[in-house]
Amino acid sequence: MFRWLLIWSFFTLSLAASLLGERALPALSSSALTDLAKMRDSSKNLDASDPHSHLQKILIPRPPDTENSTLVRNYIVSTLRNLKWHIEEDSFIESTPYGPKNFTNVIATKDPEAPRRVVLSAHFDSKYFPFFPQNQFVGATDSAASCAMMLDIAETLDPLLDARAKRIEEGDLDPEEDEDAAETTLQLIFFDGEEAFRVWSDIDSIYGARHLAETWAAAYLPPHPKRRLLSPSTPTTQLSTIEHLVLLDLLGAAHPLVRSYFPDTAWLFDALVDAETRLRTAGILDAAVLGRSFFRPRSATDNSLGYMGDDHLPFLRRGVSVLHVIAEPFPSVWHTLGDDATVLDLPTLRAWNLIFRVFFAEYLGLRPESSKRDEPSPSKRHAPPVKKSDSELTRDSAFIPELQNTDCES
Ligand SMILES: *[C@@H]1O[C@H](CO)[C@@H](O)[C@H](O)[C@H]1NC(C)=O
Ligand SMILES: *[C@@H]1O[C@H](CO)[C@@H](O)[C@H](O)[C@H]1NC(C)=O
Repeated sequence: MFRWLLIWSFFTLSLAASLLGERALPALSSSALTDLAKMRDSSKNLDASDPHSHLQKILIPRPPDTENSTLVRNYIVSTLRNLKWHIEEDSFIESTPYGPKNFTNVIATKDPEAPRRVVLSAHFDSKYFPFFPQNQFVGATDSAASCAMMLDIAETLDPLLDARAKRIEEGDLDPEEDEDAAETTLQLIFFDGEEAFRVWSDIDSIYGARHLAETWAAAYLPPHPKRRLLSPSTPTTQLSTIEHLVLLDLLGAAHPLVRSYFPDTAWLFDALVDAETRLRTAGILDAAVLGRSFFRPRSATDNSLGYMGDDHLPFLRRGVSVLHVIAEPFPSVWHTLGDDATVLDLPTLRAWNLIFRVFFAEYLGLRPESSKRDEPSPSKRHAPPVKKSDSELTRDSAFIPELQNTDCES
């Protein structure tokens, strides 16, 4: 993560507002929220003091092209292979200020045959420092905690995704059930090489994200009978099958503040806020422990046009719809040895984990086990579903914002 703000015009951004996406999400009932919270322990894998937690396995120095990086990557891959997710390891060599380095992104997909996917992502590398003791930097918030959470979310939602696939196969979709959601799978991306080796620049940063976005933009796909939301006249690439890219970064410290950066995903930001509110109201999250909401009220940020340099940029520039979930201001320990297990707050991590469980369960039309059939249809919230016309769907060409590199380092 990087502190400069890149700024572009609001008018360019608002072009993206009508693209594929906004729809009513079915809200889980409060008993379903409770079920989702209870399905699996929501703290265990995020507890750095537990030697069996996902976090513990990731929380080591892991700059690109090191043995530790391979260890962490193999751990991520084997965890997701256990779930039988489809794994792609996207390896490439790129020159860096320290010569050519190997990088490997990990992409894990629940159903690789699905016509569309919603992506949950974070970077798994830690920042390289040449000398001791800085080279022991483990990047707890940057972004080990997010990676551990992604693994836990995959494990939690996996059986619910299986149950949804079964409902679809048996033609047993609730009439209220969002057909759009039924064609969307969950994909995780663990980016390598997010951090600059020396000083953040266009060529020394986000190595993995740049490589993947470029590769996918050029990967044309055969027509898919179910890819009905994409205009037939728009060539389909791997990139265009991403409905939304959700990028997590710098999460895990207490009292985060996250803002909405992009008008076209403001509705998804609102869905996160709404999930948090309902979890607090249901008593599943304890406001007395957590303090105020994790989210800045959206109206107060509407005229903030800046955003962070991060892994989403190469996707955003190619028209992918992005929800950037990053604590801002950054944790005070950012890029220091202090960004270790001691800065992580377990109740905060548990809260993030539950917020994302709810968010993705609702996005994907999942039903936590015991809340299945005998409940009334989930109520719709937000606006009525947006009608998707062809003109709204030609997003590959629609949105190429102009970046102005304004040096407002904070
Ligand atoms: C690899 O990780 C271990 C912790 O498991 C750490 O002690 C060691 O310093 C790391 N190696 C490098 C080269 O950073
Ligand atoms: C990096 O890739 C090269 C070429 O594939 C390989 O020879 C080398 O062993 C790799 N380095 C590491 C650390 O894996």
